[in-house]
Amino acid sequence: MVSSHDFIEDKRNLNIKIYVNGKFYKRKDAKISVFDSSTMLGDGIWDSIRYHNNKFIFLKEHVDRLFKDAKLIDLKIHLNRKKITEILEKTVKINNIKTDGHLRIIISRGIKSTPYQSPKVTISKPTIIIIPEFKKPDKRAYKKGLKLVTVNTIRGPENVQNPQINSLSKLNCILACIEAQKKGADEALMFDINDNIATNNSTHFFYIKNNCVFTSTGKYCVTGITRQKIIDICKAHKIKVFQKNFKLKDVLNADEAFVTGTFAGIVPVNKINNKKFKINDNNLTYKLSNFYLDLINK
Ligand SMILES: Cc1ncc(COP(=O)(O)O)c(C=O)c1O
Repeated sequence: MVSSHDFIEDKRNLNIKIYVNGKFYKRKDAKISVFDSSTMLGDGIWDSIRYHNNKFIFLKEHVDRLFKDAKLIDLKIHLNRKKITEILEKTVKINNIKTDGHLRIIISRGIKSTPYQSPKVTISKPTIIIIPEFKKPDKRAYKKGLKLVTVNTIRGPENVQNPQINSLSKLNCILACIEAQKKGADEALMFDINDNIATNNSTHFFYIKNNCVFTSTGKYCVTGITRQKIIDICKAHKIKVFQKNFKLKDVLNADEAFVTGTFAGIVPVNKINNKKFKINDNNLTYKLSNFYLDLINK
């Protein structure tokens, strides 16, 4: 099995320095309280950002998303964008990351006085954690492609748990992921509440039909940065791209399909349920992937 998150093992990850609330710690010493909102309730937000060829990829977009998500859950980050950027840069420097860095930033609402959900019992500033890793995608996933399967777990409506937020509580995605893995697939293809195809459990979904690129409206997906870049690339190269509602039958009738994410960029799909897709260098997926690589290598 492959996944959109398969990576090359890197021994340097044993010695990374992890940022927790203003200080850097060795892996074994990086700890937070059991009373933290994250451990107790999954109350917080996160983002992942890549550091490639001595620079962050789409830094502004990632910091913007972090602050947008914080606002949507009414979490006031006590540091401003500039300070958060400085901490990210410091984390890269202290860990001597030059390329293939993958940084997970986690912000929880902070420490609680007692195990209770109300933000009123929060007695500290938000907890900020940055886990930097040396993480290079495993190329085999690009050649082989992913197997997707539709699952029963759906993307919920905005007024249940807003699916556009990169929240710490990923239970919806995790349950979809478990379902997919039990069915022998690499990733779950998820419906929205109206039986349209929305997204995958950890990446976004696109399909291609007659050289036109389709993805969902985005209403039931995490606000995707890579997703948006692919849409922009299509527009820049005069490739027709549509953000619209579509059904499983449209997907099963497609010529190609692929997934996108910060970690692996574009990964082709080789199978959805019982439908197989051919993966080759003449595919539009491959061309889009090269355009995306050009963009991040710029
Ligand atoms: C459910 C889900 N979809 C998609 C993505 C990918 O989004 P992006 O393109 O910003 O990496 C993520 C990762 O954050 C995710 O958790």
